[in-house]
Amino acid sequence: MASPTEAPGFDGTYPSIARVNDFWLEGTDHSQDDQDYAERIELCAPHIPYLVRASRNLTGRMVRYLLGKGVRQFIDLGSGVPTQRHVHEVAQRADPECRVVYVDLDPGVVTDGRRILEGNDKVAYLQADIRDREAVLADPATRALIDFTEPVALMVIETLLYLPDSDDPAALVDSYVDALPAGSYVGMSHCAEDSQLRKGLDMFSRMFGQPPDVTLRERDELTAMFGGLELVEPGVVPVLLWNPDPDEDLGRNPELAHMYAGLGRKVWID
Ligand SMILES: C[S@@+](CC[C@H](N)C(=O)[O-])C[C@H]1O[C@@H](n2cnc3c(N)ncnc32)[C@H](O)[C@@H]1O
Repeated sequence: MASPTEAPGFDGTYPSIARVNDFWLEGTDHSQDDQDYAERIELCAPHIPYLVRASRNLTGRMVRYLLGKGVRQFIDLGSGVPTQRHVHEVAQRADPECRVVYVDLDPGVVTDGRRILEGNDKVAYLQADIRDREAVLADPATRALIDFTEPVALMVIETLLYLPDSDDPAALVDSYVDALPAGSYVGMSHCAEDSQLRKGLDMFSRMFGQPPDVTLRERDELTAMFGGLELVEPGVVPVLLWNPDPDEDLGRNPELAHMYAGLGRKVWID
């Protein structure tokens, strides 16, 4: 399995998964190469853009829930392009004082992200590998924006699928939780095994070469990653069913979306 730094989308020259997502989210921060790559994925797995949009809607619902609980600071791991209703847009619309630290490994995405965020002194974009917790948490920008004596929301939305099991993503999440004060939250979503997606990845490799290198994980594996956190209702559920807005169109069979999401709260004091 290629390491994330070798996989397409991580060196700023290949089509980037983050910018491919931007294409599906109807943003403008992607190139023709990214769009071509997106269309190839779509040809093999036509339901992926729908899941990407569902995941961005989830981010919005989670951020609004967290705002309702008084959270005003967010660390977002594996952020992609910071537009199209991303964390700071939703949070600062409700309260301009909200602070957000975005983190991504992809240098091209970080450069674009910093350009997009220019002039917003309550948001930083770090270029770091999320597996290096210290690089993320000890960065001067993180220390300047995040007050670790107040609840923090750690957002990990469709990022852990890029970490193989050998990186032990559950232990990684735990290590971040250790650094957060009581009352903090962790929001996560993860694509699960799905025969349609598996067939799509196989078709992609036959037609176009190596597909995006991902590790799909089941709902119970995602649930286990919340460790001792107290899960907010309704627990870990298909992404569309995590506290949908009353007027949200869930389409048909939202329970069949093979992408799960949950939000956990740290209730203990270290
Ligand atoms: C699916 S994309 C964007 C997901 C984003 N959280 C969202 O909700 O749209 C996943 C992102 O994770 C980043 N990523 C993958 N592995 C990473 C790592 N080890 N450290 C930092 N970023 C990583 C990729 O560069 C990519 O931008």
